[in-house]
Amino acid sequence: MIYTLNAVKKVVHGAGSIKEVGKQVLALGAKRAFIVTDPGLAALGLHKGVEESLAASDIPFFLFDKAELEPNATSIQSCADKAKEFKADIIIGLGGGSALDTSKAAAVLISHPAPITQYFGLQMVPGPCLPIISIPTTAGTGSEMTSISVLTNNETGAKLGIVSDYLYSSVVILDPTVTTGLPPHVTAMTGVDAFVHAMESFVGKAATPFTDALNLQAMKLVAKSIRKAYVNGGDIQARENMLYASALAGFGFGNTQNGIIHAIGTSVPSALKLPHGFLMAVIAPMGVAFNYMANPEKYAIVADILNDCDTSHMPVLERAESCIDAFETLLVDLDIISGLAPHGVKEADLEGIAERAAAAKRLIDNNPRPANKNQILKLLKEHMA
Ligand SMILES: [Fe+2]
Repeated sequence: MIYTLNAVKKVVHGAGSIKEVGKQVLALGAKRAFIVTDPGLAALGLHKGVEESLAASDIPFFLFDKAELEPNATSIQSCADKAKEFKADIIIGLGGGSALDTSKAAAVLISHPAPITQYFGLQMVPGPCLPIISIPTTAGTGSEMTSISVLTNNETGAKLGIVSDYLYSSVVILDPTVTTGLPPHVTAMTGVDAFVHAMESFVGKAATPFTDALNLQAMKLVAKSIRKAYVNGGDIQARENMLYASALAGFGFGNTQNGIIHAIGTSVPSALKLPHGFLMAVIAPMGVAFNYMANPEKYAIVADILNDCDTSHMPVLERAESCIDAFETLLVDLDIISGLAPHGVKEADLEGIAERAAAAKRLIDNNPRPANKNQILKLLKEHMA
């Protein structure tokens, strides 16, 4: 099999690196910057650092603070229309996954004809897009490092991805100081999402020595720091570790795709309004239970990372199975209850979830264990108790 490893062009990182954004815009030859963020972050004033840096470099900018939690064709269109009206020649995504995914999809629509729906799928974007600078304010989605923009289908509520090499950011800025204000529950669920990215990429069929290196480091950093970041948001070293972990995992899964946990999680009805990272966390133990026998050697390594121990003297299957409990322990420590039933998912929802999850080919194709609708339905039913 032949593989490729794709990456963003540049990563600027470290405490205070947000001040570099103006210089990076100039280095890209851009003259008018369009900042995309969401209303919550704008209310916190997180965009001020970006604006100050742009102003210091005499770069005119426009702040679009209407990125939606669940970006869709309509919200992307209005973002792209505003950017065109402003004559932006660079787009700066500032925020969590939703703001970053909005900026990426808007970059497509600024450079290519509407509607955005024609670009869903793999490599459907016909050419280069407006350059993108991504500045994550959560440590979880890894969207800054990937070529993926996940949008919600207006009609069905299903999550669909635009995956294109043209969506890689020209510059990523990783500044842990912009993540210190994240509330504990957001720190927990986005951090677990980062771990799940690294794990699903690590155990998946498309894993390579390159992605293994990225994902192993990502998992180690999360295991070491997520509890510290959860109980003490001001712990800048823990925040920095989580931000690096999220980016490393994004770099990893962006080159392999995820697996069954994401397939199920993105198939839960959006009407329940359960955040992405939260869904990944509550589904993770059942996803591990389903998968571990398909790749016990790698799940054994994941278990050791989660448990911070070396059990290489033990039988590999036993070690791999212990990954389920290791995940449950992590969730207990983060005050997250695993499973779907405690969070409003009903028996009647399971058929649809299983059907959509099995159809998520991009994700299921990378899963170490093949999964059809009936198998996923059985798994979901077993974990409704
Ligand atoms: Fe995710």
